[in-house]
Amino acid sequence: MRFSSLLSSLALLLNFTTPTLAQTQVPPGVTFLYNANITVGLSVDVGSIPAGNVTVIPVIGGALIGPKVSGKILAIGADWGLSTPQGSYYTDMRAQIRTMDNANIYVQMSGLMQRNDGLIYVRATFQTGAQNYWWMNYAFAFGTMRASGTGFMVEMWHLNY
Ligand SMILES: *[C@@H]1O[C@H](CO)[C@@H](O)[C@H](O)[C@H]1NC(C)=O
Ligand SMILES: *[C@@H]1O[C@H](CO)[C@@H](O)[C@H](O)[C@H]1NC(C)=O
Repeated sequence: MRFSSLLSSLALLLNFTTPTLAQTQVPPGVTFLYNANITVGLSVDVGSIPAGNVTVIPVIGGALIGPKVSGKILAIGADWGLSTPQGSYYTDMRAQIRTMDNANIYVQMSGLMQRNDGLIYVRATFQTGAQNYWWMNYAFAFGTMRASGTGFMVEMWHLNY
């Protein structure tokens, strides 16, 4: 059964009109969120676990600049990275942003490097109680992260909706 007919049967069953598939839907736009340089310290080797090797890379500072959010990265957090036998690198980074107007934003990034180009594709979520950045709690953010001489360079975007 084709997907569209499956969908219309489902629609009949659930008694609503068949949605028009993709062509007529407007894709959401994206907005640039920030560029960040994250400085890291000496890593801690957790060793081999069943899924691969875990390395903890501490976050010791950094800076971020964007049209609506700019500030520094505090020396709190780390990337709990997993290197798999297939050559992938899973990033699991938690860090703290202190904005120029002194708001605290917790950021969590997770993602995967699939190729050997050093580019890690990440999703990010934010938590903050600051009114100026309240919208970031709901931001659907994603971007790239790559190793630099002193740590990581991050480019972050978010969906408009
Ligand atoms: C990150 O570092 C690069 C290279 O040094 C620099 O050009 C860029 O302005 C820095 N970005 C931020 C957000 O600090
Ligand atoms: C994990 O670490 C061991 C010991 O250093 C090494 O031999 C192995 O190649 C590493 N595996 C991965 C997936 O990085």
